[in-house]
Amino acid sequence: MTDETSRNVGPIILLGPPGAGKGTQSKRIVQHYQIPQISTGDLLREEVQRGTEVGKQVGSQLAAGRLAPDDLVNRMVAERIRRADCARGYILDGFPRTPAQAGWLDEYLKQPFFDNLRQGKHLPIVIRMDVDYNQLLHRLTGRRTCPACGRIYNVYLQPPRVAGICDVDGSKLEIRSDDREEVIQDRLAAYERQTRPVAEYYQGQGRLQIVNADQPVDKVTEDLIREIEAHSPAAAGGS
Ligand code: AP5
Repeated sequence: MTDETSRNVGPIILLGPPGAGKGTQSKRIVQHYQIPQISTGDLLREEVQRGTEVGKQVGSQLAAGRLAPDDLVNRMVAERIRRADCARGYILDGFPRTPAQAGWLDEYLKQPFFDNLRQGKHLPIVIRMDVDYNQLLHRLTGRRTCPACGRIYNVYLQPPRVAGICDVDGSKLEIRSDDREEVIQDRLAAYERQTRPVAEYYQGQGRLQIVNADQPVDKVTEDLIREIEAHSPAAAGGS
């Protein structure tokens, strides 16, 4: 007998432009299945904040809305998804972001190590979250984040109960440094140029699912979970 918090879900990839709601929805999927969220954006920002060698290398790229180098991000993901907490599955939020990263991931997951973690040869469930371009600008310029618990708000669309303060732990909310209008344009352009082809890569293999993310948060969660249920190892006859 298994339930959502004990069965094998497998890897889940959330694709979508900046502001599509990948972070917001990842946190809800984490709650539902008790599997970790792996956000390459969060991992890179942590490196920058801690002033590590990696952080020094990528700091200016993040601030300018450009992508970090594939090799560097692949190494971070390689290390992270081999940890024991990924045994039943995990959510990749913001990775892969180039066709080269997608190709690397497919090869990496063929390693026998992943059979040991019960993921078997089940390929990641790939879901692209689509949102209207103008809505994205609104979402990004209004975003506020709690530095302590990571909860995401929006001053226009999902405001906290008290302006500027996290509902959960009372921390002062922050604005991400790449959420400035001029950088947002560059991030959206990088998405079109480098990340949209990732969806085409998966579509070419018949592996792309699409969810309308231009709906209320609860409805998007419902649609994402429906897709995950339809394509998870359990649906494919696994445990
Ligand atoms: P990353 O942190 O991944 O940022 P991103 O892809 O630009 O996505 P965002 O975090 O901006 O948006 P989101 O889709 O998570 O939306 P959110 O849930 O916050 O990457 C940052 C940088 O790191 C990159 O630019 C790059 O430099 C580097 N990087 C990261 N990964 C990399 C990789 N693989 N390779 C190379 N470089 C990499 O929601 C946004 C707002 O909308 C919030 O305010 C939220 O409250 C609101 N909202 C969400 N859903 C809804 C809804 N349904 N209705 C109304 N409002 C909503």
